[in-house]
Amino acid sequence: MRGWITSALIAFLSVSIALLTGGSGRSDDDDDDDDDGKRSPRMAEIAPGYMRAPYLQGMAQDSTLVVWVASARGEPAVDYGVTTDYGRTAVATSDGDRRVAVLRGLMPGTRYHYRVRAGERVLAQGPLYTFETDAGPADRSFNFFVTADVGDTKGRQRRTAESIVAADPRPQFGVLCGDIVYGRGSSADYDRRLMRPWMEVLCSIPVWPALGNHDWKSAPQDNWEREWYLPHNEHYYSFDYANAHFIALDTNDGDVYDRDNQVRWLEQDLEANRNADWIFVYYHHPGITCTYKENNDAVIDNFLPLFDRYRVDVVFTGHAHTYERLYPIYQGAVVDAEQDPRYKDPKGTIYIVSGAGGKVKENDPTSLCGPTAFFRDEVLLWTQVFIEDATCTIRTVESQGGRKVDEVVITKTELARKTPR
Ligand SMILES: [Fe+2]
Ligand SMILES: [Fe+2]
Repeated sequence: MRGWITSALIAFLSVSIALLTGGSGRSDDDDDDDDDGKRSPRMAEIAPGYMRAPYLQGMAQDSTLVVWVASARGEPAVDYGVTTDYGRTAVATSDGDRRVAVLRGLMPGTRYHYRVRAGERVLAQGPLYTFETDAGPADRSFNFFVTADVGDTKGRQRRTAESIVAADPRPQFGVLCGDIVYGRGSSADYDRRLMRPWMEVLCSIPVWPALGNHDWKSAPQDNWEREWYLPHNEHYYSFDYANAHFIALDTNDGDVYDRDNQVRWLEQDLEANRNADWIFVYYHHPGITCTYKENNDAVIDNFLPLFDRYRVDVVFTGHAHTYERLYPIYQGAVVDAEQDPRYKDPKGTIYIVSGAGGKVKENDPTSLCGPTAFFRDEVLLWTQVFIEDATCTIRTVESQGGRKVDEVVITKTELARKTPR
C-alpha cells in the first residue's frame, strides 16, 4: 500500500460536501456543440442511479483505487478477484454521492475482475470491469498510451477512446498531457467531456493526468484535485511502472507552476530514480517546438537542463493540437539525427507532442525547422509506447482507422544510466 493513496483519501474525505455534477452542469464560456445524447452502447450495463461509471486511479503493484459517483442507496462496495467469482470486497467511503474504494492486497502483474455494488444491488459488472496490476521492476515488457488535449467540446475524444480500447495489445495504463477538460477544467464538465466518452478506457485502464492551461482555468483545488487521486501534491508527481519511472510536471498557463519548489523536487526525484531503466516525463507545454505554438522559455530554461543531466529518455507534451517529434536534443542542440528513426543509445532526449487526442488544429501547419524529425497535422491521433527489454518503440496512430502515423525506436546497449552527466 503506497502511503500517498491513504493521504489522497484523507484529503478527499476532508473536503466539505461537494457539489455533485452528474454531468448536468455547463460552464459559461463554451462555444461548444456537445453530443451529450450519444452514449456508448456499453452504458446499458450501468444501472439507473449511476452518475459516473467507475474509474481506476493510482494503480500500483498491490493496490488501486476505484472511484465512482452514484445516488443508489446501500453500502457502497467493490467486489474483486482474479475470476468473476470475485471473493474479496472493499467497502467504499462516501462524500455525498462520490464513492472511493481502496483495493488492497493485490498480487503484482495480475489481471483482476471487479464489480461495483450499492448494498446487494450490483451497479456495474461485466467484461469491461477488469484491471491489471503493475508487475514491478523485474518486468521489462509492458506498454502504455500517451495523448493530450482530450476533453473536447465536439465529442471527438470518443474516437480516440474507442481506438485505445481496441488496440492490440491493450495499453496497461495511460498518461494524459494536459487540457484534460475544456473549456475551463471545471468539475461540472468532467462527465460529459471526459468521464462518459472515455468510460470504457477509464474503467479498465488507469490514467495519470497532468494539468494543462485549460485545467487551470477553474481552481484546481476545487476541481482537478477532486476528480483525480494523484501522488505528492497532485500537480507534479511521479510513479513507477515495471522498470520505468514516470514524472508528471505542471506548466500552468505556460509558466512553471510553483517554480522553485517544482524544479527542486524534479531534480531530487530524478536523482533518486536515476537508475531506472527508462525515464519518461510528461507535461502540457512543449519547450522547443515548430508547431503553431511558440517555444516556451520557462520550460526550456527550467526543465531541459535537468533532462539532459539525468538522461531522460522521452518527454511527452500536448498543447499544440497536432503531432510533432523532434530529433534527440542535448544542451539545446540536435544530436544523432542521422540515426532517425531507429536510435541506438541516443545522446539526447526525444521530445514528442501528441496533442490531438480530442482537438485537431486545422489551417495552421507545423513548419519544418531544425529539430523536427517528423510531424503530422490535422488528424486525430494518439501514441502507444512499448517497452521490451532494452528497446522502446513509440508508435502513433490515427484515432479513426488506426493507420500508423509515426514510429520511432530507441535501443540501449546498457539499460542502467548510472551517473548524471
Ligand atoms: Fe489544448
Ligand atoms: Fe493547452
